Amino acid sequence: MQKMINIAKNVLKTGNLVIFPTETVYGLGCDATNIEAIKKIYKLKKRPTTNPLICHFKSLQQVEKNFEISDLDNQLIKLFWPGPLTLILKKKKISSINHLLSNNSNLVGCRIPVHKIALALLKSVNFPIAAPSANIATKLTSTHLNHISKDLRKHAYILNGGSSLLGLESTVLQTFNNKIKILRLGSITVEEIKDKLSENTEIEIQNFNSTLSPGNQMKHYSPNLPIRINVNNVKQDECLLNFGQNNLKSLICEYNLSSDGNLNEASKNFFNYLHLIDKCKCLGIAVAPIPNFGLGKTINDRLIRASN
Ligand code: TXA
Ligand code: MG
Repeated sequence: MQKMINIAKNVLKTGNLVIFPTETVYGLGCDATNIEAIKKIYKLKKRPTTNPLICHFKSLQQVEKNFEISDLDNQLIKLFWPGPLTLILKKKKISSINHLLSNNSNLVGCRIPVHKIALALLKSVNFPIAAPSANIATKLTSTHLNHISKDLRKHAYILNGGSSLLGLESTVLQTFNNKIKILRLGSITVEEIKDKLSENTEIEIQNFNSTLSPGNQMKHYSPNLPIRINVNNVKQDECLLNFGQNNLKSLICEYNLSSDGNLNEASKNFFNYLHLIDKCKCLGIAVAPIPNFGLGKTINDRLIRASN
């Protein structure tokens, strides 16, 4: 792997793109200080530049060099970094992170991943890495290299990390004094954050289309087939994405996110099964009800957007 990290390092240094694994999902990365490289990501993903990219760091020291960090940010950092938490932080004037990454705003989504390959890549270079999820805008997220479209693969050097361990993206949040606004539900649950912080910290989940999180628009994470969620019956030309034990049945094909009703297992399988079902010869996808707590809340958030 070290040999491949060395190649990836040179690819990044020359302003080109690398697809790499993180514990959440695969990222499409570039040098976060290089405007031409950032332009390539927006273009390749067909993503509007009004939707900012997440910036990945190798260490807290590297984050501190570039950003202001409040007390509450610090508490969250101690609890969840390295890991699947993205914090929106205010850039210092001296920061060399390019303005195009955050649509000219001085607020930037920052995260230190825990994945070994992601960290090795981050440590091999002396700049942070901008990386959105490795998929075309509005389409399904990639949790395995097989999910990544030819077009993306053709334009990037690829580091293979097998299947993503968590399978859902990072939780994106912003702090305001003693308040936390969750801009995108993710792999760290609201319950987990509540549990670990003092009772007087207020937590608010932002509505769809909140102006705080430009990428959280309604249509997102979409398979090509139409999708019906929370179903109590499956039509004869539909495939089934099931959860737990019930009487639902598809005549064509079905996958069970977790027959034991385990939400961790369901999260890990979620995008993989949607990719597989999307290739089935059927006219639509019916999805069983998923409990609306913990990671189930994140899965339901993705399903609601996918079905729009
Ligand atoms: O798990 C993840 O977060 C993956 C891996 C590769 O790290 N990345 C990822 O990036 O999911 P992306 O670009 O697909 O989603 C980033 C989300 C978007 O909803 C975007 O709008 C929001 O984070 N975001 C990024 N920077 C922001 C900012 N400065 N202000 C508000 N929202 C921001
Ligand atoms: Mg994405």
